[in-house]
Amino acid sequence: LFAGPVDFVKGVVAMSGLPPADRAEVCFAGRSNVGKSSLINALTGRKALARASNTPGRTQEINYFALGDSHYLVDLPGYGYANAPLPKVAAWQALLKQYLSGRVTLRRAFVLIDARHGIKEVDEEILSLLDSAAVTFQCVLTKADKVKAKDREAVLTQVRGKLAKHPAAFPEIILTSSEKGDGLATLRATIASVG
Ligand code: GTP
Ligand code: MG
Repeated sequence: LFAGPVDFVKGVVAMSGLPPADRAEVCFAGRSNVGKSSLINALTGRKALARASNTPGRTQEINYFALGDSHYLVDLPGYGYANAPLPKVAAWQALLKQYLSGRVTLRRAFVLIDARHGIKEVDEEILSLLDSAAVTFQCVLTKADKVKAKDREAVLTQVRGKLAKHPAAFPEIILTSSEKGDGLATLRATIASVG
C-alpha cells in the first residue's frame, strides 16, 4: 500500500466536500501538535506531503491522501488547544466530530497520543464519540524518541487501562517516532490490513 505513489487528493472544509465514499479509509486523529501530519510524512517517506509545524492548529482541513487506488489516508485537524482564531477552531472541531461519527467508509481511526503524556481528558471525549459511533479506533503513541526506554512501560500501562473502558478500542498499541522511525513498519502493515 505504501510501495506505490501516495498523492494528495484534496482538503475538505465541510462534509459536503468529502470525496465519494468508494474505498476504505483510515484517519489520524489526535490533539493539536501530537504529530499527525509528521507521522503521515514519515510513513510515506515524503518530507512535506502533509504540512507539519510546531504551531498547534497547523492542519485546519480534512486532508485526503490516496494510497494507491484502494485506500484513503486522512489527516485531520487536531482537537484541544490550537493557536488560531476561536470561531475558526470551533468550525473545524465541529467538522472533525461530524467526520468521525458520520463517515461510512471510515474503517479505523488511529488516535495519536503523545508518549510523554498518555491519554488526557480531551482525548477521552473523542474516544467516547468513537464508541458511540461504533468506529473501531487504535491508539498510536507518538514522539517515542522523547521518552526514555525505562519510562515507556508506565505510559503503556496508563493507556491500556483507559482503553479497557472503551468498547470500540482495538487493543494493540503502536509506539512510534516520526523522527527515529520506530513503529513505522508496524503501522504501515496495520493500515494495509484494514480493508
Ligand atoms: P496539528 O495539525 O496542529 O493538529 O498538529 P499535528 O498533530 O499534525 O502535529 P505536527 O505533525 O505538525 O507536529 C507537531 C510538532 O511535533 C512538530 O514540531 C514536529 O516536528 C514534532 N514532532 C512530530 N512527530 C515527532 C516525533 O516523532 N519526534 C519528535 N521529537 N518530534 C515530533
Ligand atoms: Mg497536522
